Amino acid sequence: MTETAQATGVGSEHVIEGPGLRFRVKRTAMTSEEVFRAELAKVFGRTWLYLGHESEIPNPGDFVRRPVGGRPLFMVRGAKTGAVNVFHNTCTHRGAVVCRVDKGTSKVFQCFYHAWTFDSEGRLVGVPGEDAYGDDLDRSALGLGRARTESYRGFVFVTFDPDIEDLPTYLAGARQYLDYVVDSMDGNVEVVPGTNEYGFDANWKLLVENSIDGYHAASTHDTYFKYLVALGTDLSIGVTGVTKDLGNGHAVLEYQAPWGRPVALWEPLFGEDSKEEIAALRAELTDKHGEEKALVMAERNRNLLIYPNLIINDIMAVTVRTFVPTAPDRVEVTAWELAPQGELPQLRQRRLDSFLTFLGPGGFATPDDLEALESCQQGFASGGVEWNDISRGMGRDPQATDEEQMRAFWRRWRVQLDATD
Ligand code: FES
Ligand SMILES: [Fe+2]
Repeated sequence: MTETAQATGVGSEHVIEGPGLRFRVKRTAMTSEEVFRAELAKVFGRTWLYLGHESEIPNPGDFVRRPVGGRPLFMVRGAKTGAVNVFHNTCTHRGAVVCRVDKGTSKVFQCFYHAWTFDSEGRLVGVPGEDAYGDDLDRSALGLGRARTESYRGFVFVTFDPDIEDLPTYLAGARQYLDYVVDSMDGNVEVVPGTNEYGFDANWKLLVENSIDGYHAASTHDTYFKYLVALGTDLSIGVTGVTKDLGNGHAVLEYQAPWGRPVALWEPLFGEDSKEEIAALRAELTDKHGEEKALVMAERNRNLLIYPNLIINDIMAVTVRTFVPTAPDRVEVTAWELAPQGELPQLRQRRLDSFLTFLGPGGFATPDDLEALESCQQGFASGGVEWNDISRGMGRDPQATDEEQMRAFWRRWRVQLDATD
């Protein structure tokens, strides 16, 4: 008997591998309240979760506030230490949310309820009417609650699991793909100010699958391909590549595609006048990293999943997207654009155009993708069919239109949902 066949639990009830080249996921994984509650504890409570990028808070007191794994947190650059501090966004007095705006710069965070005040290192520095506590109010024990935080090359993650491995170990094979992103920008990556925020009515795991799915590109995104042709893009190379399981549930779809890349593969969408600049960037990459790595960084596209809910699309633009499920059939998404610091203004403009044209909330891709995901969720409600089929390519070396990368996600999800502690 295989290990898979012996496993039991919510995960194994929903993800079944075999017999033969079959991989199935039970649709209640996307619809059940019970599964959703189990996920919050067993997936979002037991992984490293992306919070933000260090470049978003360059100066002392800079902060951003975000929900992570369903919990309100905020990240602030400490004025004393210069460190990236991540705090649970709750007052140590009686619980109110302390940081009440999405971003800004502040020396202190004052709770609006009774005005306890904390500094950017989380220390309690002000208590109105402190003498009412006698001598027993220990300010040092009443600082903001810290979330366990680690960064990898500027990407800040938090975890609620005290026993989890360190972040680099957790990232496993995904580290190399984060390195490609950062190295292709010479280590000087910044998040472009501003966010895309949107929500949709489907299960969050459908967006995981969709974000690394090469199979749907030609059918769902037909309009985009027609648009590229109209601009003079040669589609003959098609979308060809591989999918890889990177360990710990992380996965990548890596491929060549007809569209260009701001670093560094020119296409008509970027305009004739940017041809030289993009060629210069390409030459620089080859000088620094050698032809082989430069080719991978400049010409290959990557849709990277860092389990469970971070997507880095290193494609016609580099986007970072994370999402928070709020119900089995509801997701809130936030996306950012990454770019090299000090990028030439024209290239920055083209990068943003390229990002919004395909991946923006009103771009060629996102509305069509969300329509597909909501359509799946509506289809599940129809009943009569219990299982999704995710077997594509099981009998061969996984290609760009296969589903091995999704199976990598689901295998990890199964192990986590089976856990009993
Ligand atoms: S709850 Fe924050 S000061 Fe009372
Ligand atoms: Fe898509």
